[in-house]
Amino acid sequence: MSTAISPTAYNYKVVRQFAIMTVVWGILGMGLGVFIASQLVWPQLNLDLPWTSFGRLRPLHTNLVIFAFGGCALFGTSYYVVQRTCQTRLISDSMAAFTFWGWQAVIVGALITLPMGFTTTKEYAELEWPLAILLAIVWVTYALVFFGTIVKRKTKHIYVGNWFYGAFIVVTAMLHIVNHISLPVSLFKSYSAYAGATDAMIQWWYGHNAVGFFLTTGFLGMMYYFVPKQAERPIYSYRLSIVHFWALITLYIWAGPHHLHYTALPDWAQSLGMVMSIILLAPSWGGMINGMMTLSGAWHKLRTDPILRFLVVSLAFYGMSTFEGPMMAIKTVNSLSHYTDWTIGHVHAGALGWVAMISIGAVYHMIPKLYGRDQMHSVGLINAHFWLATIGTVLYIASMWVNGITQGLMWRAINDDGTLTYSFVEALQASHPGFIVRALGGAFFASGMLLMAYNVFRTVRAANPVQAEEAAKIVVVGAH
Ligand code: HEM
Ligand code: HEM
Repeated sequence: MSTAISPTAYNYKVVRQFAIMTVVWGILGMGLGVFIASQLVWPQLNLDLPWTSFGRLRPLHTNLVIFAFGGCALFGTSYYVVQRTCQTRLISDSMAAFTFWGWQAVIVGALITLPMGFTTTKEYAELEWPLAILLAIVWVTYALVFFGTIVKRKTKHIYVGNWFYGAFIVVTAMLHIVNHISLPVSLFKSYSAYAGATDAMIQWWYGHNAVGFFLTTGFLGMMYYFVPKQAERPIYSYRLSIVHFWALITLYIWAGPHHLHYTALPDWAQSLGMVMSIILLAPSWGGMINGMMTLSGAWHKLRTDPILRFLVVSLAFYGMSTFEGPMMAIKTVNSLSHYTDWTIGHVHAGALGWVAMISIGAVYHMIPKLYGRDQMHSVGLINAHFWLATIGTVLYIASMWVNGITQGLMWRAINDDGTLTYSFVEALQASHPGFIVRALGGAFFASGMLLMAYNVFRTVRAANPVQAEEAAKIVVVGAH
């Protein structure tokens, strides 16, 4: 369809680009997830090559799902939401286009360098310094586009969704820059500026807040727009949204040490991280309850609207993982869960159940509007996708809970004479059935993404450019 955009209309071109790439990277990242999950079942799949080994593909998986899939969903929805709620066009088309192409370049860079073994070795911050610098430039441009658009808004107030997106953008910039301060020694090798326990603390201050601000706050911004929109109901409590926003961003930043329990980190810092994590339950549930209660009086819509189902079930998983997280942050619980598959289960309860489900719901909501259609090509396929995703997530996390607790208990079992009851290999053998179930669950989830790709393709192919242009017109009065 035509990409020419009238300056009196919203810039939907960049939103379309990010929405499509969300689906593309989702398939690649999750497909790779299924592959590495299968490697843990059948180690022969490492293919005896360095580039295809689990150790190199695992960080590629995390980069593709978090930054490529999740990142594109966040860029696309934030550009959509900020324009519609501020009733104005993005301040600069060229800067927005730069963020799209720059972001794709960073991801392609990851796709090439990570399998080759170039890595800083810091989890979720693996990209070597040239890519890290490109990422920082793209991110600062993103901040300028987003906040510039807010500044020239036509509405009096700033909708709460934008507060969440804004915090996500500012804090991600801060985390990325501070954690990447390093000394390059060649084009693809650098050393962190921090040493020892300080390096670990900075890394997990980054790592935890990447969860808190990238995987949570940004997606809450998404939730605050798409849940009320899809349910056709106002947010349950606007006051609660403001209170839990400030509580969430004030508390998250302190909780990083729960990743470093029983390490060289000072004991007081570990205890502080634990206490802050437990308190974090309150604002997290504030957000979950606010989203859920928005459906008051509209629950019947769940029977017929699979997009709303994606959005609501994502909130249920958000509530579940933010209950589980504070429990795992308690030192005695962490002494059982740490290093085990329990952590992996917790991660994917958040990643599949919350992050992926809400993104999928938001993309299904946007695609028909962006391409001038009344609805997606097939509602039946969205429904099938919903069940594949839900069953896939449950299989994934349930198998990892069983594995995690089994591993934790077997590792710590001690005979009367003080020797270990089980060898490590015995615990690994006990985990094998769980690995199979996890790979199966992942395959369910990933095949749902293929249905989505087909459904999006058919909707885009039947695009109605005239209606799309009409929908992109800025209407300054009334609801957005
Ligand atoms: C089809 C879906 C998926 C499958 C089959 C899958 C599979 C896996 C596997 C096998 C691992 C390595 C576990 C280990 O080392 O024992 C992993 C790690 C990870 N995955 Fe996924 N994944 C999927 C989707 C996602 C999504 C959508 C996200 C994020 C939005 C995600 C985020 C992560 C993270 C953050 C880790 C590292 C966890 C840690 O270090 O504790 N995954 N995944
Ligand atoms: C109140 C909210 C939360 C708290 C207090 C929390 C707490 C925790 C704890 C204690 C761990 C285990 C640390 C360890 O033993 O190494 C953990 C790991 C993790 N959590 Fe959460 N969690 C929360 C919510 C979430 C959500 C919503 C997501 C995803 C969207 C998430 C993603 C992760 C990831 C990716 C890891 C693994 C990090 C790694 O070791 O690579 N968490 N979390």
